[in-house]
Amino acid sequence: MPAMNAQPIEQRIEVHHPDRLKPLIDFVIATLINHFPGTLSALVKQHGSPLNLVWPHAFELNTKALQTVLNQHNVRHAIFYGAKANKSQSLLSAAANSGIGVDVSSIYELEAALRAGTLAAKICATGPAKTAAFHQALISAGSLICVDSLEEFDHLQTVIESLTTPAKARILLRYRPASCPKSRFGMGFEDLLECLHRLTRQPRHFHFEGFHFHLGGYGFESRAQAFREVSGFVQAAREMGLNPQIIDIGGGLPIRYVEPQAYCQFLQHDNKYEHYYNNIVPDSYYPYGSELTAPQWLTLFLQADHSPGLSIANYLNMQKITLALEPGRSLVDQAAISLFRVTRTKKLADNKIVIFVEGSSFSACETWFSSEYLVDPILISTSELPHTPTQAYIAGHSCLDDDVITHRLINFATTPQAGDLLVYVNTAGYQMDLLENEFHRHPLPRRLMATCCTEGNYAFAPDY
Ligand SMILES: Cc1ncc(COP(=O)(O)O)c(C=O)c1O
Repeated sequence: MPAMNAQPIEQRIEVHHPDRLKPLIDFVIATLINHFPGTLSALVKQHGSPLNLVWPHAFELNTKALQTVLNQHNVRHAIFYGAKANKSQSLLSAAANSGIGVDVSSIYELEAALRAGTLAAKICATGPAKTAAFHQALISAGSLICVDSLEEFDHLQTVIESLTTPAKARILLRYRPASCPKSRFGMGFEDLLECLHRLTRQPRHFHFEGFHFHLGGYGFESRAQAFREVSGFVQAAREMGLNPQIIDIGGGLPIRYVEPQAYCQFLQHDNKYEHYYNNIVPDSYYPYGSELTAPQWLTLFLQADHSPGLSIANYLNMQKITLALEPGRSLVDQAAISLFRVTRTKKLADNKIVIFVEGSSFSACETWFSSEYLVDPILISTSELPHTPTQAYIAGHSCLDDDVITHRLINFATTPQAGDLLVYVNTAGYQMDLLENEFHRHPLPRRLMATCCTEGNYAFAPDY
């Protein structure tokens, strides 16, 4: 597709930013939205709605920011991009360009990462139920495999024994931290120890490289605690004659979507049942106004105590251990925006307003997790009518009652009209394409890689 130079448009077109949960926006993306909204309308006209614009430069900036913290602490490190966060191939290419590895959870993610140019040795596979085909592919590629259980360990051994040419599997053992005893992921104390014993008996089949864990939630303290627990196994493994060199702490580094103060304000004052069309306040949300950015989170993690007088960074250096991370969401911070064209605005029986968009909540999917995306959309309006402020909730175009993008009643400076655009910012992390499908036989939303060469000069290309 030819590069497209954004031109200021002649038609009256206004950009209305929300007044409450204002999205934080990357400078390059904000310039496009604020100064070239006509370009966005033209792209939707050409490629349909919803349309996802993916921004690899944001990924590369996020990676650099984490690398800077790791280098400042002088620790050996390996970053594996959690590819599950987004299906974009151009973001995998951004990972390859940044020289980092990729965390894959299926043979398809593995193939996509290799296609993007990531070296197989820099790929690490996670997930609790890897198939024989996936295991085989990982072994022959020489990628790292996070073994989830004794059962998976045995399965992997069977796969190795079935190979016609002798091979070794490079493995990490996944630990189940004490804070989540009922989790189905990873091994508890006894199974992990048993796995280490089995490794001492199987030096031919395995190249044991260390330990791994991944926790839900976004606190650095829970990771620091799990790290302390796992470091006891490093010692135990060494005493058994094994040579662990990596502790992989998984993902869960946060994104700050909106200013923390605005977020607190929202939670305190604008998050009551009457602020929702369905009168239900969700029980939990992603921490959209995170107090910490991902680099701050990582700094606090590295500076947390490992033991009295010894920080985690000191421990890593003293023990010559590589800290591995698998950030998904935090590496795709600001790396996509999603554009939905308004189909119509409708008044309902109780005088409440619903805005229907071309597209569905499968392409902005937080409500499917009984939650809400607490970032308000930007309205790009082409209406010639005088401004009529309104409050409305937003629904998709399907016949499912649950197809609601936001139950929240959002304030608009003027009533959205057919053909206007709603711009959702920062949708790359599990938001834009996790649940996308062809319901009603609508084609899958298009994804374009967006780049900016000089200010105002943007290029858009299909992102496969
Ligand atoms: C094993 C593992 N690593 C990394 C991640 C990425 O987590 P996040 O996107 O929160 O950084 C996940 C997410 O589920 C995961 O299961």
